[in-house]
Amino acid sequence: MSKHTSNDTSNDTVNVTATVADAAGDRPADPSADDLATVDSPAAVDGPTARRPYAVGDGITVVPAYLPVPGMGVLPANSFVVDGPEPLLVDTGPGGAEEGFRAALRSILDPADLRWIWLTHTDPDHVGSLQWVLDQAPAARLITTYLAVGKLGMQMAVPMDRLYWVNPGTTIEVNGRTLRAVRPPSFDAPETTAFYDHSAGTLFSADSFGALLQRPVAEAADVHPDDLRDGLTLWSTIDSPWLTHTDRASFGRTVDELRGLGARRVLSAHLPPAEGITDRLVDLLSTVPGSTPWVGPDQAALEQLLSAVTA
Ligand SMILES: [Fe+2]
Ligand SMILES: [Fe+2]
Repeated sequence: MSKHTSNDTSNDTVNVTATVADAAGDRPADPSADDLATVDSPAAVDGPTARRPYAVGDGITVVPAYLPVPGMGVLPANSFVVDGPEPLLVDTGPGGAEEGFRAALRSILDPADLRWIWLTHTDPDHVGSLQWVLDQAPAARLITTYLAVGKLGMQMAVPMDRLYWVNPGTTIEVNGRTLRAVRPPSFDAPETTAFYDHSAGTLFSADSFGALLQRPVAEAADVHPDDLRDGLTLWSTIDSPWLTHTDRASFGRTVDELRGLGARRVLSAHLPPAEGITDRLVDLLSTVPGSTPWVGPDQAALEQLLSAVTA
């Protein structure tokens, strides 16, 4: 049975006005996407927070969310809706922002109209509303991998008859589009499967090309080039720590394959939409091998943090 249903908000982080009442005043009304801050609002990101969706062209709408990274900034956590005869949802929002994500999705389409869900991987920032979407969209099939299903099976009952398995290299025709599954150049989970939408010249890159940012923004091109370089490098060493000791020449051949796709748009889960800067992103990622491994804050840092909070 679903852990989250449309009426179950008891465990949800409320990012939108939870006190909105229905006409009778005896239960909260479903929140609206109008209650969500715009993506580039300066409002603080105090927890996983959905922001208002916006279109990027070619029938693609970003369903943005942001995650706070204390002491380091914020991290985008995007999902995407791809319009067409068989509407497709790419990932299902982060845990902790379920209510806002669901309001955002409902503002784009009736979730029951979804026909496909492409799950890039099973991390909590990608499966936050997976069960809810499956419940709301009974006609939708879940595009994923054998390995992802093994991992999902430890969290939920996986509807085996609704799965569609793809491996990197597989090309499928769905939603009136030609989608080629690819293994992105960086990733943090072995089941990660990104894809290239030939019809839209768009790479849906999963975690790859993510960047820590100082504040939410609508487009990657709006981030200062130095901040984009530093944020992408830092995020890549955190999310794909194996990259720091990967041979740069070997990695270069991997990213060259990606460059060969000629994507004019990169839609990462962890970067604002990137239009027309693919070569720059690839160049930045190419420099990560050999960079200093990231080490997280230690116990002394935690104690300092706690003492600051309780002072
Ligand atoms: Fe991930
Ligand atoms: Fe992620």
